[in-house]
Amino acid sequence: MSRLKTVYRCQSCGFGAAKFLGQCPSCQAWNSLVEEVVEESSLASSSKNRSRLLTDFSSEIVSLSDLKPETALRLPTGVLELDRLLGGGLVKGQIALLAGPPGIGKSTMILQAAALLSEAGQKTLYVSGEESLDQISSRAKRLNVEKSRLSLLSETDLTKILSALESLNPAVLVLDSIQTIYHPDLDSSPGTVAQVRECAAQILRFSKNKGMMVFLLGHVTKDGSVAGPRVLEHIVDTVLYFDSERQDAFRVLRAHKNRFGPTDEAGFFEMGASGLKEVKSVSSLFFDGSKADEKPGRAISIAMEGSRPILIEVQSLVVSTKYPLPRRMATGLDLNRVLVLLAAMEKHLRLRLEDKDVFLNLAGGVKISDPALDLAVCASVLSSAYDAAIAKDMAIVGEVSLLGDIGNVSHLEQRLKEAAKMGFKKALMPSGKEGNNAPSFQSIPVSDLKQASAAIFGGK
Ligand code: TYD
Ligand code: MG
Repeated sequence: MSRLKTVYRCQSCGFGAAKFLGQCPSCQAWNSLVEEVVEESSLASSSKNRSRLLTDFSSEIVSLSDLKPETALRLPTGVLELDRLLGGGLVKGQIALLAGPPGIGKSTMILQAAALLSEAGQKTLYVSGEESLDQISSRAKRLNVEKSRLSLLSETDLTKILSALESLNPAVLVLDSIQTIYHPDLDSSPGTVAQVRECAAQILRFSKNKGMMVFLLGHVTKDGSVAGPRVLEHIVDTVLYFDSERQDAFRVLRAHKNRFGPTDEAGFFEMGASGLKEVKSVSSLFFDGSKADEKPGRAISIAMEGSRPILIEVQSLVVSTKYPLPRRMATGLDLNRVLVLLAAMEKHLRLRLEDKDVFLNLAGGVKISDPALDLAVCASVLSSAYDAAIAKDMAIVGEVSLLGDIGNVSHLEQRLKEAAKMGFKKALMPSGKEGNNAPSFQSIPVSDLKQASAAIFGGK
C-alpha cells in the first residue's frame, strides 16, 4: 500500500520542506514553496529510477586508454552565435538547456537552428507543448524555413513523446518547453519540480543511450510560479541563458554551465521581422562613433565579452550635492568597485568629492565587470569633475590599484586592434606593453593615476 505524504517544494530550486515557509532557506526565493502530494511508493520507485539512470550508461569496465574519444564530432547548428557558445557545435548525447523569460525568442532561435540542422541532413524532431502545428508553421514562414524537412510534433504527454522518439530515432530533439511536458504517472501538474525533474531524467536516459542531442527550452519567471530551470542545472550538460540587456530588440545568450565548451562567451542577437539575426559588429551596439563628440564626462574603453572586444562608453556626472551624505550611483558597473576607485582618486589625485554627487553609467545599458574599465571610469569622473572633455579619438584601458597604480589587462592587443578598427587614433594604457600595434595608432603608456590625469588633461 502506498501512503500519501505532503512536501512543500521550492519551485525555484527544488528544496523540500515538511511545512510551509514564506522564504526558501536554500535559494532565498520568496513565496516559492508549493504543496506537493507524493506517494511514498512513487518516491521509492523514482529513487529506483535514479539508480537505473546511472547504471544505464555503464555497460562494462574498460580501460581509459582503450577508448577513442570522438572529439572531432561536433555538430554545428548553423546559428553562428549559438555555435560559438556551444564550442563549435553539439556533441553526441549532449543535453543543452536554453532558459530565459517568456517572449525573449527561445522558440524562434531553436526553430531556426532545428531547421538548419535538418537542412544539413540531420534527422531533427521539434516537439512543442506550447504551440499548435499551425502556429509553428506560421512562425516557420516568418523565418523563411517553411520548406525544411524538420519533423514536428505537438504533444505534452511524455510517454507519447518517448514512443515517437523510439519510432523516429532522431539525431536531434527539441523540447519546447520542459515546463509544459508531463508524465501521466505523476499526480503533480506540469511545470512543478517533480514533473520537470522526472521528464528531464527520462529524456536524459534516452539521449545518453542513443547519443541523441537535445535542446530543452525552459522559462524563467521572477515570481517562481513555474519550476525554475535551476532544478535541471545539475542534470544537463549545458545551460544557456537568453536575455535582453536593454528594452529593445537586442538579446544576449550566455553560457552558465558548459561541459563541452566555454562559459565566458556571449552571443549577440537582434530580433527582427524575420527572426533572430546575429549581430556582426558588437561594438557598434554600444558605441556610435558618428555621435561621439567631445563632452565632459565621457570616456571610451574596450571591454572583453568572452573572447570578443567591445567598445564601451563610460558616462559620469559629478555635481554639487544638496544632501549631508553625497550620493554615488552606478548603472552597469559594480558600485563597490566604483566606490574604491573614487576613494583611490581622492587619495592619490587629491580630488575632493565629499561634497559631490557622482553618477556613473555605461551607455547602451550593458553590464560589465571587466577591471580593464577602471581607468576609463576614473577618467570619466575626472572629466566631469574638471569639466574638461577627453579627446574623442582616445580609448582608455587599464586596471587601477588601491595604490593608484595602473595595472596590466588581459588581451591588450585584441582590445587595441578593435579600438583602431573603430576609428580611434590613440590609447591610454598600462606602461610596459606598448609598441606592438599599428604604426598609425599611438600608445600612451601610464603607470599611475597622476600620469594618466596629466596625459588626458595636460595637468589641468
Ligand atoms: P518566442 O521565440 O516565441 O519567445 P519564447 O519562446 O522565448 O517565449 O519569441 C516571441 C517574440 O519574438 C514575440 O514577441 C514576437 C517576436 N518575433 C519577432 O519579432 N520576429 C520574428 O520573426 C518572430 C518569429 C518573433
Ligand atoms: Mg516559446
